[in-house]
Amino acid sequence: MASSSQVGAAPVSRQRLEILADPETLAKRAADWLLDVATSEAGIFSVALSGGSTPRALYELLARPPYRDAFPWARSHFFWGDERFVPHDDPQSNFRMTREALLSHVPIPAENIHPVPTQGFSPEAAAAAYQRELMTFYGAEKLDPKRPLFGVTLLGLGADGHTASLFPGAAALAERRRWVAAVTDAKGLARITLTYPAIESSRRVAFLVAGKEKNAIFARLRRGDGALPAAHVNPVGDLWQFVDAAAAQALG
Ligand code: 6PG
Repeated sequence: MASSSQVGAAPVSRQRLEILADPETLAKRAADWLLDVATSEAGIFSVALSGGSTPRALYELLARPPYRDAFPWARSHFFWGDERFVPHDDPQSNFRMTREALLSHVPIPAENIHPVPTQGFSPEAAAAAYQRELMTFYGAEKLDPKRPLFGVTLLGLGADGHTASLFPGAAALAERRRWVAAVTDAKGLARITLTYPAIESSRRVAFLVAGKEKNAIFARLRRGDGALPAAHVNPVGDLWQFVDAAAAQALG
């Protein structure tokens, strides 16, 4: 059984925590933050998007003024931190959720959208294909800590402490060479996930956590509980945690 204690964890001193009143305020703060990051630097801006339900409100905000009209879509590239291994039109698809909430409403060039391939491949072949796409985008096969792959990686936090599709006990937790892995040993759907090396190659990682059902697991994350895969995310850059008051309730 792979242990998630095999990788480093971001020291709490580098975790920048912001507690927002409610999910709507969290989404607005995250939208303001993302727009500020995207417009504070020139050149290509790459984002690894989170799946799940929490980021949907953020994506819907970005699809509307003022964010839609201010965001640098033409030089932004969107990837996914993980994907369920289903067709892109499946209701469980993270790509479908993001297309409905954001991508179909903004002037982003189609070539700047990089969904995880999930049709016509085995999960393992899909992971390898996505890794090739990331390497082509990055322009190298080895990640340089001084040149992160992503400007921002957005992450969620599962009730069991998973993030992306890095689930407790999954073999992918121990992957330190490949950038993308197939997750077929977790319960439920097969998934494709960025591995720790790829997630860590981020100038900024931002966790978005909302709801009272997350307050126990978020408190454990803040304590650096090594049993949680999310506790081992250690980006080369800054680690932000945007959390609503309900999810922060158990922090004491
Ligand atoms: C997914 C996500 C997953 C998610 C967490 C939190 O594909 O579901 O990548 O890691 O971020 O499970 O999900 P919620 O935001 O729905 O609570």
